Amino acid sequence: MSLHISIIGGGYVGLVTGACFAQLGNKVTIIEIDQRKIDSINKGIPPIYEEGLEEILKKNSGTRLFATNSYASVAESDVSIICVGTPPNPDGSSNLEYIRSAATSIGEALKDNTRYHVITVKSTVPPGTTEKIVLPEVRRNSGRDSDTLGFCMNPEFLREGRAIEDFLHPDRIVIGSSDEQAEEVLKNLYSTLNAPIISTSLTAAEMIKYTANSFLATKISFSNEIGNICKKLGIDVYDVMKGAGLDHRIGSHFLNAGAGFGGSCFPKDVSALISLAESVGERPQLLHAVIEINEKQPHKMLELVRKRIGDLKGKRIAVLGLAFKDNTDDIRDSRSIPVIEELIKEGADVIAYDPMAMINMKRLFPSITYAKSIKDVLKDADGCLIMTEWPEFSHLSEEFSLMKQPPVILEGRRIIKRPEVEGICW
Ligand code: UDX
Repeated sequence: MSLHISIIGGGYVGLVTGACFAQLGNKVTIIEIDQRKIDSINKGIPPIYEEGLEEILKKNSGTRLFATNSYASVAESDVSIICVGTPPNPDGSSNLEYIRSAATSIGEALKDNTRYHVITVKSTVPPGTTEKIVLPEVRRNSGRDSDTLGFCMNPEFLREGRAIEDFLHPDRIVIGSSDEQAEEVLKNLYSTLNAPIISTSLTAAEMIKYTANSFLATKISFSNEIGNICKKLGIDVYDVMKGAGLDHRIGSHFLNAGAGFGGSCFPKDVSALISLAESVGERPQLLHAVIEINEKQPHKMLELVRKRIGDLKGKRIAVLGLAFKDNTDDIRDSRSIPVIEELIKEGADVIAYDPMAMINMKRLFPSITYAKSIKDVLKDADGCLIMTEWPEFSHLSEEFSLMKQPPVILEGRRIIKRPEVEGICW
């Protein structure tokens, strides 16, 4: 059965979610404040890069998928899904201002209406937010009682660059709900997807998202800790993690040591969980260590470069890869940022290349040089730092002969096929 869904927030999560629900046959209205994004979605042009999104927008914009700045569609919808940002406050806690104002506007739009409606939170929010902020805010502003309103918390587990695939083929769907009727509506919404559904309380669903991301971040920092020890002992950490990860209790994913994790989710979510734990009197030592190790990794890479080529002043250093990971132009919390900052501070001549993220990085570092190609970035470089796992870097080999010899290559992502390439020292 197809439903009418209003999505609040046409950012990365809202847009992918809305586009995919439209693709599954539902009518979707995205409510967004940025007119540029509204126009772009309505024209079928994605305002962000995400693999496969353009095709879905082209197919559905104007027929099943619409964008607007008005909340009017909420009253005619079966479900509204809150996908607004929860940016970090300076202390690491989540800023819930946008969540609250979305709940207020949904409530106002639902006034004078008796049609059953489910309000769903998809944004990553601290446990208790749906129950203590969204639910009372919607009820108060709509003047409606629990019989005609249902509440759900349905976290997303979408990886950038693979979000459409993750949406359509999820490992699981988590539905936290206030009551059975609300849960049934969401189950119906996902009924065409083949994945186990985990039904929980609203707060458990909120906690599942933080737990999943913090656990993945912990796997990476753990691998980095082992990697740092292996480095000192002359052992290849990738062999070690392969040997350990094939134990199904450990699992072989997210064990890649190197530059550490970046992106809009892991650093923010681990910090938010720390802040949440401390607000209830816990001191989460492990989570603190996860962040601390992650902060150190880019500096460890530079330590290794210095060990090989000495003082970096005046040295031409190539930074290969700027995005926080491959297949995206997103540089948020990218590990290349602290690396470039430190290189500039030390007076190095920095030259950078990325297949997609150079425009974004230019805004942050306008004074460094941006190369047109991989060959350009490597030419005459004293050292090269590989910061992103772009597949097109994996076959590099002869290109390193353009560097000053012998080449000094620091791999933050273990992407290059070895052992053909000499000079790699991570
Ligand atoms: C993540 C979660 O995977 C997703 O479920 C959630 O909803 C949003 O956050 P994303 O931020 O898109 O997705 O990136 P992801 O692919 O998980 O990678 C995060 C970072 O970890 C990247 O910087 C990546 O390079 C790094 N990473 C990943 C490692 O350093 N080692 C690994 O083994 C895996």
